[in-house]
Amino acid sequence: MKGLILSGGKGTRLRPITHTGAKQLIPIANRPILFYAIDALAQAGVDDVGIIIGETGPEVRDAVGDGSRFGVRVTYIEQDAPLGLAHAVRTARDFLGDDRFVMYLGDNLIADGIVPLVREFEGSAAEAMILLASVPEPQRFGVAELREGRVVRLVEKPPVPPSDLALVGVYLFSSSVFDAIDRIEPSARGELEITDAIQRLIDDGRDVVPHIITGWWKDTGHLGDLLEANRMLLDTLEPRCDGRVGEDVRMDGKVVVEAGAELRNCVVRGPAIIGKRTTIDNAYVGPFTSIYYDCAIRNAELENSIVLEKTRIHDVTGKIDGSLIGKECLVSTSPLRPKAVRLMLGDHSRVEL
Ligand code: G1P
Repeated sequence: MKGLILSGGKGTRLRPITHTGAKQLIPIANRPILFYAIDALAQAGVDDVGIIIGETGPEVRDAVGDGSRFGVRVTYIEQDAPLGLAHAVRTARDFLGDDRFVMYLGDNLIADGIVPLVREFEGSAAEAMILLASVPEPQRFGVAELREGRVVRLVEKPPVPPSDLALVGVYLFSSSVFDAIDRIEPSARGELEITDAIQRLIDDGRDVVPHIITGWWKDTGHLGDLLEANRMLLDTLEPRCDGRVGEDVRMDGKVVVEAGAELRNCVVRGPAIIGKRTTIDNAYVGPFTSIYYDCAIRNAELENSIVLEKTRIHDVTGKIDGSLIGKECLVSTSPLRPKAVRLMLGDHSRVEL
């Protein structure tokens, strides 16, 4: 079996963060989302992994390298334009050859991994296996209609969903999917949808096996999803302290302090993670907060938030909550008069005061 991870796309729902970086590299519990996908494939014994890259390719290559530290061999495959998931699979045709493969969307997180699913597919004659999960807002996803345990229809983001079963972003295919992709047309959003290609397999009478997962799954397309994923993953961490923690620091619950971090005169209530070389001074870091590397937090309070690398937050009155703060940002109170809110925000930024 081969693996194909999709790490292109524009990430429009996560702007402005995605104006300058790949959404798949946003850290969840201080690890890029994409790394969890690579781990999931490695755990399932899939060590020949193609990664589809687009505009953010150089950044993805830098972060992942040749894959050796994950125990896999990575081949990068450039998709010249974000023309859909099925288009990405077609782009990878030479890499995939006639092998059966797992396709994994690089912004999806599945708590329980995919080991048994890969085993089951390897040992079966099915042409495809899809993963489904019951969700509260199926209209945001591809949706499946089942009859007597078989898939009869798949629709991409239907305004009136036929069920609450969303397509999870992990699919297992045989090479018959290429022929199906060759026979679909672009959707209303101008993309070749993998959902339509699977529907084509079903219409051809091919064996498409549905597998309903009950464990936790997240497509991290929106801010709320990222924060929820962060909450779930922080809760699974083992507490650890590899940094310097002053006598005047109180840490409650599961807290991870990474190497070189320094904490002085503060309260950290876990689950939380403080990244490498980050300093926290006279501050409160509340539950479900991840602060990435080389940040400085002083005279401020925050919780339930994700802060990216090299950001400084100081002298902020009022608690920061439910926030995603990008790389190298500055959030502070200015001593200048008149007392006012002064902003320099990137396009598509959101500020709630
Ligand atoms: C894609 C698929 C959709 C699937 C979802 C899972 O949606 O088209 O069928 O349910 O991934 O993450 P997209 O994220 O491209 O909108």
